[in-house]
Amino acid sequence: MPSEEAHIFVPHPSVSKNAFVSSSTQYQQMYKKSLENPEEFWGEIARQFHWETPIDNNRFFRYNFDMTKGPIFTKWLDGATTNIAYNLLDRNVRNGHGDKVAYYWEGNHPDDYSRLTYKKLLEEVCRFANVLKSRGVQKGDRVAVYMPMILEAVITLLACARIGAVHSLVFAGFSSDSFAERILDCEARVLVTADGVWRGEKLLQLKNICDQAMIKCSKEGHNVETCIVVSHLERVTAPKGGVMSRQTNKTPMTDGRDIWWQDIVPQASTSCYPEWMQAEDPLFMLYTSGSTGKPKGVLHTTAGYLLYAATTFKYVFDYKPNDVYWCTADVGWITGHSYVVYGPLANAATSVLFEGTPFFPGNDRFWSVVDKYKVSQFYTAPTAIRSLMKFDDDLVARHNLSSLRVLGSVGEPINPEAWMWYYKLVGHEKCSIVDTFWQTETGGHVLTTLPGAQPMKPGAAGFPFFGVEPVLLDENGREIKGEGEGYLVFSKPWPGLMRTLYGNHDRYELTYFSKFPGYYCTGDGAKRDADGYLWVTGRVDDMLNVSGHLMSTAEVESVLTEHHGVAEAAVVAKPHPVKGECLYCFITLTETGIFDDQLLRELKTHIRERIGPFAQPDVIQNAPGLPKTRSGKIMRRILRKIAVNDRDVGDVSTLADSSVVELLFQTRPANA
Ligand code: WTA
Repeated sequence: MPSEEAHIFVPHPSVSKNAFVSSSTQYQQMYKKSLENPEEFWGEIARQFHWETPIDNNRFFRYNFDMTKGPIFTKWLDGATTNIAYNLLDRNVRNGHGDKVAYYWEGNHPDDYSRLTYKKLLEEVCRFANVLKSRGVQKGDRVAVYMPMILEAVITLLACARIGAVHSLVFAGFSSDSFAERILDCEARVLVTADGVWRGEKLLQLKNICDQAMIKCSKEGHNVETCIVVSHLERVTAPKGGVMSRQTNKTPMTDGRDIWWQDIVPQASTSCYPEWMQAEDPLFMLYTSGSTGKPKGVLHTTAGYLLYAATTFKYVFDYKPNDVYWCTADVGWITGHSYVVYGPLANAATSVLFEGTPFFPGNDRFWSVVDKYKVSQFYTAPTAIRSLMKFDDDLVARHNLSSLRVLGSVGEPINPEAWMWYYKLVGHEKCSIVDTFWQTETGGHVLTTLPGAQPMKPGAAGFPFFGVEPVLLDENGREIKGEGEGYLVFSKPWPGLMRTLYGNHDRYELTYFSKFPGYYCTGDGAKRDADGYLWVTGRVDDMLNVSGHLMSTAEVESVLTEHHGVAEAAVVAKPHPVKGECLYCFITLTETGIFDDQLLRELKTHIRERIGPFAQPDVIQNAPGLPKTRSGKIMRRILRKIAVNDRDVGDVSTLADSSVVELLFQTRPANA
C-alpha cells in the first residue's frame, strides 16, 4: 500500500469547532439513525420543506433491488406533492432571505460580474416559466437546454421545475451530433440556448451548434418548435476588450422558431403559480455515457432528489448562512445540477457562478476569484488541480485564501500528490478536504468524509453518507467484510438514487442491477482499509491484471505523479504474452520535467518500490496531452487502442481535443 495511506490529517480545530458534525462519534450516531430509522431521519429533514399534500408515513419509502423478485423500483415519499422551485425560491423568500444573494456571477472577463438575489431570481424564474407556458410547454414535456455558465441557465432549469417540465441539459461543449442524438432521444420540442460564450480567448458559437443539431433532428423527422436564445455576447467583454453587437455577431435566427430571450422574457409576468408535483414525478434527465451504445438518460425525480441534494450540500460542505460557496463544475454535469443549482438553493446559500476557465486572463484566476468573493467552500476536480499544480506556487501564494474552510474534490480518485498540494498550498493545512465519490446516477455524494468530523486520508473517499450502505463484493458476489478490495455496490436506496433510464427501464435494470442481484452496482472498485476508510480504485473496467496481480490504473497513476517531473499520468493495460497484461503508461511532464532515460529509470524504480516489481511498466510514453472528454475524464478506451497501435479508435466526438490522438499514435516509443 502506498505510504500516504499511513498519512492521516486531523481536521483543524477551527473547522471542527462549529461544524454541523464535529466528531466521528457524532457522525456514527447520525449514520446509525439514518439506516435504522430512515423515516425519522429523512422525515425531520423533509419537514423543513413545503409539502402541498403532506407526507404519508405509511408510504415513506419502498423499493426492490432484486430482479428475480420483480421489476426494480425505488419510491420515496410517495403520495406527497410539492414543487422544487417553490421550495428553493418562494420558501426562502418567505423565510427572510429575499435580499440575500443567491449567485455572484463572474464572467470570463474579470470586468464582467453581476449578482442576483433570491427575490429577483424568483421573479425571473416566474417570468421564464410563463414564457415556456406561452410556447405550449406543459407538465411532463422535455425541454432541451444548451447553455453556458450564465444566470439564465439556472433560471431555465428552475422555470422548468416550476411548471413540471423535465429539463434535459446537455453540456455546451458536446458536438451538434451528440446534442441532436440527445434531443431526439427525449423528443424535446423546445430548446433554450445562448448566442455564444467566450471561454478564455476562445469564442464558442453555441447557436450555430444548436442550428446544426436542429437540422439533424429534422432529418430524423423531429422538429424543434421553439428555440429561445439568450443574447449574451453583446453584454460581455471580449478577451481583448470591446463587445460584440448582435449585428457584428450575426447569429442566425429562423423566423417563427427562434426568439431572443430579451425580446420576450422582460414583458412576462413575475408571478407564476407552481405546478404541484407528485413526489415521484420526473424532475430532470441528464445523459451520461455508457460503456456501450447510446448515452443513457439518467432520470431523477422530485421529492427524493430535493431531500438528498439539500442534505448532502449542507453536511458535506458544512454550509453556514454567511458562507460563500463556489463549485467550478459546469452546470451541464450532474455536479452542476446538484451542487451549483439544487443543493445550494435548497439551503438558501450564496454561490459563485463562474463562466470562465482557470487559465484566463492568468493561471491564477481561481485564486483571484476565491479572494474576490471571500469564498469559504471551494469545490473542483482533480484534473483541474493537477493542471494548476504545474505552475509556479507563487500564483497561489500571492492571493489571500484565508476565507477558505472546506475544499472539495470530485470526478475521479484524487492522487495523494494533488491532494497534498491542495491541502498545503490552497488550504494552508487548515481546511478540510472532502473527496466526494458519487455518480450522475447517485444524484448526490455517497462516499466522503465530513469536514471537521473525521480525519482525512489523502486519496480515500472515506465513509458512506447518511442513508447509504456500501458493500464490497468479490467476483462471485460474496461480501467482503473488513479489509479488502472488490466491487463497490449498494444494498439499499437513498433518496437521491436515479429511478430509471429515460424510456429504457430494461437497460436500467440490466446495467445497474443484473450483475449482483439485490444490489445497485456502481461499476467502480473500492478497497476498505483497516480503519474502515473506503478508497475508490476507479472503474472496474480499468482494473489491470499483471501476472495475476490485480491493481487499479489509479493506483499506478498516483505513484507516477508523485515524481516531480510528472504532471499527469494515464495507465492502461496492454496484452502481454507472458504476464497476461502489462502496463502501458502515458505521462505528461511538468514544466521542469525532462523526458529522458534517467526519468524512465527513476519512474520504474519508484513504481517497483511503491507497489512492487509486478507493477513495473513495460512502456512509458511521453504525452504532451491526453485524450479527455470535455468534463476532463481521460478516455482510456482510446489509450488502449494507442497502446496496441490499433487505429480503429471509434467515436472521438466527445473529446475536448481530438488532435492529441493522432499525435500519440505518431510518437509511440520504439519499444511499444
Ligand atoms: C468517478 C461525477 C473516485 C467514478 C460526480 C464514478 C470518482 C464516476 C470520484 C462518475 C471520487 C467520481 N473518487 N472516483 N471522488 N467521483 N468518480 O457520472 O468512477 O460524471 O463512477 O459523476 O466518476 O462520474 P459522473
